Amino acid sequence: METKIRLVEVDYWNYDSLIDLKVKESQKGYVASNVYSLAEAYAAVASKGYALPFGIYLEDRPVGFLMIGYYPDLEYAKKAFGEEDEIPDYIPGSYLVWRFMIDQEYQGKGYGREAMRLALDYIRTKPCGNAECCWLSYEPENEVARNLYSSFGFEEKEKPKGWDEVPAVLKL
Ligand SMILES: CC(C)(COP(=O)(O)OP(=O)(O)OC[C@H]1O[C@@H](n2cnc3c(N)ncnc32)[C@H](O)[C@@H]1OP(=O)(O)O)[C@@H](O)C(=O)NCCC(=O)NCCS
Repeated sequence: METKIRLVEVDYWNYDSLIDLKVKESQKGYVASNVYSLAEAYAAVASKGYALPFGIYLEDRPVGFLMIGYYPDLEYAKKAFGEEDEIPDYIPGSYLVWRFMIDQEYQGKGYGREAMRLALDYIRTKPCGNAECCWLSYEPENEVARNLYSSFGFEEKEKPKGWDEVPAVLKL
């Protein structure tokens, strides 16, 4: 079956329609708003850092948002996290699925799974540089996200000191 889901780079012509996408009220604690994520992406790129934001499209219709990060080494990770935070050893030399959401109107139709598959295919091309693994994190009560990620092979890790979210790691 031909896939209808596509990842489209965020640009000046589509960012507005991605900001309009929203999760359910009950899911707001699981993911930052898209406008916040885009501000963060701008700041990262303006600091010569790494942020790759994408719209998730069903053919020509925006249905979600996904953002990839990259940690080339420990020095970058320390700057990004702050010197005080514990940095797990899988983070230097890793990609991060930084943000991931499907708009409330389009959830539960398989689009999230397909978008994650496309994102991991892209990450495996190592677009920013070499890496051993990909990681992400989720709120402990976010069962839908946990099950979806584990079905792609992400293995849950211990929560580092000071983190609210649970990390999970996939070897690339
Ligand atoms: C997590 C999220 C991106 C998944 O996207 P989606 O398009 O709804 O997911 P899919 O339809 O592809 O379903 C993926 C799997 O989750 C399951 N699922 C989806 N919604 C579910 C629900 N409300 N309850 C139980 N299972 C659910 C599906 O059955 C499917 O499992 P399967 O493929 O084994 O059958 C979406 O729910 C979302 O945006 N949630 C709010 C934000 C969020 O939590 N982001 C992740 C932060 S870490």
